[in-house]
Amino acid sequence: MHSTNLKLKERVKELKCLYELSRIALENEKNVRTILSKTIKILPPAMQFPDFAEASITIGRDVYATPNFSRSTFKFSSAMTLSQKQKGKVEIGYRSTVKTKGVGGPFLVEEKKLINTVARELSLLINRSIAEEEKQKLQSQLKQLERLAFVGELSAGIAHELNEPLGRILGFAQLIKKAGGLNGQQEEDIDRIVKASLYTREIIKKLMLFSRQMPQQITMVNLNEIISNTLYFIDVRFQSGRIKMISKLDPRLPSIQADAVQMSQVLVNLTTNAIHAMPRGGELWIATKVKKDSISLTVKDTGQGMTNEVKKKIFEPFFTTKPVGEGTGLGLSVVQGIVSSHQGKISVTSTVGKGSKFEVLLPIRQNRKK
Ligand SMILES: Nc1ncnc2c1ncn2[C@@H]1O[C@H](COP(=O)(O)OP(=O)(O)OP(=O)(O)O)[C@@H](O)[C@H]1O
Ligand SMILES: [Mg+2]
Repeated sequence: MHSTNLKLKERVKELKCLYELSRIALENEKNVRTILSKTIKILPPAMQFPDFAEASITIGRDVYATPNFSRSTFKFSSAMTLSQKQKGKVEIGYRSTVKTKGVGGPFLVEEKKLINTVARELSLLINRSIAEEEKQKLQSQLKQLERLAFVGELSAGIAHELNEPLGRILGFAQLIKKAGGLNGQQEEDIDRIVKASLYTREIIKKLMLFSRQMPQQITMVNLNEIISNTLYFIDVRFQSGRIKMISKLDPRLPSIQADAVQMSQVLVNLTTNAIHAMPRGGELWIATKVKKDSISLTVKDTGQGMTNEVKKKIFEPFFTTKPVGEGTGLGLSVVQGIVSSHQGKISVTSTVGKGSKFEVLLPIRQNRKK
């Protein structure tokens, strides 16, 4: 009679513990940390000797434990089966003050069972929360891709629509100028129209590049050659400023299949950004080298650098920190579009006040369709 009573009491405690676990899980749905730190508090009361019981849960390097857990001399532990190769366990312990009852240690079969159940339930919960997190990450990536595709389509449409009337504005302005008979002021105004139109045409070109409306022309190109040719033009722009250009081109750089015009566009956009980042002068480093199966192009400046907030957004189309009229925020979007269409990768490191480094990696051998 006495033992049945005891058993019943233990069973009630056990059920209460499981009930509380489900309540905690429900109330703190997505917060695994909270769930675990609350769970360790409900485990000791479910033990036969709650006053001496301790509990601990370990997930990877994170440990959640009752204050005196480290002092427990008897321990029982149950492993969790987690996805993603993480290791975890649920442990209960009794401090030495508890008399061991016969063989098999101080833990009842029921207590062990309970801990195994808790470990199983927690595994399910944690795995589910990891899966949920993954899903959300994927969804937001997908959204970003959809947005990019939408912006791309939109830009292509706008660029196309604008190109034609712009051509006429430019053409007629040039005709008026050619016809002559203008006074000084009028001549100046016409020049302004021409200049503004040319500027707009550049933007439209960028938009088209960005939305990949320009067909690619793939040939064997050597990036070093492209750099030397392109820098020749950029160099002229340095002469006024106090920017020192240092280029380190690897002479053994192999040629790759690429669109030469697009490659020089990448270089121009990266160097233009670097120059803009150094209004008071500095050093512009341009380097190429072979890195495993890829060639690497780095453009480094000693300019103002970027905050993490800015860094996160720089590849978004139309993101710019420059005043209206000075930046369209398409430079890096174009670069990224070109690099990924060449099956390459681009990465950035930057420190505010110190400078930024952009590295483009292009595979030496690509798997081109066709
Ligand atoms: N080298 C750099 N140093 C510091 N900030 C940079 C650098 N390169 C890019 N950025 C930041 O990234 C933003 C986006 O660059 P992106 O080239 O896409 O557009 P933009 O230069 O503003 O305009 P656009 O290139 O279209 O004229 C810039 O406005 C600037 O804030
Ligand atoms: Mg730019």
